[in-house]
Order: sequence, then C-alpha cells, then structure tokens
Amino acid sequence: MKNILITGGAGFIGSNLALKLIEKGHKITVLDNLSKQIHGENPEITSPLYKSIKDKVTFIEGTVTSRTDWEKALQNQNVVVHFAAETGTGQSMYCIEKYTEVNIQGTAIMLDILANNKNSVEKIVIASSRSIYGEGKYKHPKLGIVYPSHRKEKDMLAGNFELTFFDEEELELLATDEDSKIHPSSVYGITKQNQEQMIMTVCPTIGIAPVGFRYQNVYGPGQSLSNPYTGILSIFFYTN
Ligand SMILES: NC(=O)c1ccc[n+]([C@@H]2O[C@H](COP(=O)([O-])OP(=O)(O)OC[C@H]3O[C@@H](n4cnc5c(N)ncnc54)[C@H](O)[C@@H]3O)[C@@H](O)[C@H]2O)c1
Repeated sequence: MKNILITGGAGFIGSNLALKLIEKGHKITVLDNLSKQIHGENPEITSPLYKSIKDKVTFIEGTVTSRTDWEKALQNQNVVVHFAAETGTGQSMYCIEKYTEVNIQGTAIMLDILANNKNSVEKIVIASSRSIYGEGKYKHPKLGIVYPSHRKEKDMLAGNFELTFFDEEELELLATDEDSKIHPSSVYGITKQNQEQMIMTVCPTIGIAPVGFRYQNVYGPGQSLSNPYTGILSIFFYTN
C-alpha cells in the first residue's frame, strides 16, 4: 500500500483516480486550489467532484505555484500523480503568463524540491496531452507525410475546416501515432510538452521513475461542463 499524492485531485480525472486508488487500499493526499473555473464559487456546494473525495483523502487546499504547499504535500509520499494544471487550450492563448506559471513553473518547483531535499518519492506520473501533436499527422498528395502548422484565420472565418499545406494542396488526415512529430499549436500544448520533458529528463537523474500519459478528450460522469477544457464535448452535450 502506497502513500500517493494527487495534485489536481479534486478535478475530473484526479477525483476518479483518487476513489479507485482508495478502493485498492492506498492512502491519498490531494493538493488542489479548488479553481473557481472548475469547482464554482463555493466548492462545498457547487463541486460534486470535490464533494466526492473531500472526506476520503487528506485534502490540502493550496497551489502548485507555492513551494511551501509543495513541501507540505510531498512529505512521506511514495508516488506523485501530477494532474494540477490550467487546462483550457483556447484560454491558454490569451492567459499566457498564468498557463506557463501553473503548468511549467509548478512542475519546476516540484522537481527542484525533489532534486535538493531528502524524500521518499519513487515514481511520478505526469498528465501530458494529445495537444503536443498540434494539428496532427496528414498525407500530402505529392510530399507524403506532413505536419501542418495551425489553421489560418481566413480559412476559419470562411468556414473552411479542411487543412491545406503551404501550397494549398488538400491533405488527407492520418491517425496521429505516438511517434508523430511533436509540434504544439497552443501555449497549453507547449506547457504539456515542457512538463513531460522536465519529468522525463530530471527524474532518472534523481532515482525517480517517470511516467507520462498523453490523454485525449477524456470524458465521463462528473465532468465540469463550465470548464473551457471540456470544449467539444460540452458543445456536443448541449447541441444534442
Ligand atoms: N480531460 C482531458 O481530456 C485531458 C486531456 C489531456 C490532458 N489532460 C490533463 O490531465 C490532467 C487532469 O485533467 P482534468 O480533466 O481532470 O482537469 P480538471 O480541470 O478537471 O482538473 C484540474 C484540477 O487542478 C486544479 N488546479 C488548477 N490549478 C491549480 C493550481 N495552481 N494548484 C493546485 N491545483 C490546481 C483544479 O482546481 C482542478 O481540480 C491535467 O493536467 C490536464 O492537462 C486532460
């Protein structure tokens, strides 16, 4: 049985994971700032996700941008599941400082503490994202496999959602496999690539096993429909 810290453990994936791990007998600590965007004005009333875990875990209300909160949360942990993040792809394009501070700096503080202080952490799991692949992988009629950059405003305004390459040739969409080129097209995607790279680079040098998952459009019961990250799924939900 392990002591497991889940940052962002009051969120959609984190709260579900916390409940599963408790079922298996693990001792869970959650570090979460109960962000209003996800949990509403009064989480005790407005957040079913928070309510589902609050009496079952050691809950630390705090932020991953605080060294003090990290130091408190990391005490006696065997595993860290680092989910706390700003998660809106579109929002990341106009809240750039906030996204880099929480996602990149937050991860940097955790690694700095672990690299410089005695600790009991054996493994870190980081939530990366499909967004690191940007627009994904396509086939060009003459050039073969290509990785187009982000869509042009003029095409979006004209309702042209099919991707073209710089020569305006139409592209065929291919499955984006794990080895596809990493080329994020949002600040959020950049922060996820950066988190992943920091964990994968630093952990082996300090005797901690790193694990990264590149999630794509996770959905299910309890998901916040006011969170901009829910994006396309809440649009489908409201239009059906
Ligand atoms: N849901 C998906 O489809 C998906 C896809 C790819 C990657 N991810 C990643 O998985 C992780 C979990 O996603 P989710 O869907 O559960 O997100 P979520 O928004 O439901 O949960 C994130 C949690 O982090 C907390 N948080 C935000 N800023 C914080 C801070 N500064 N300090 C402490 N806590 C903070 C929020 O209060 C929230 O409880 C995130 O890192 C996200 O980037 C999710």
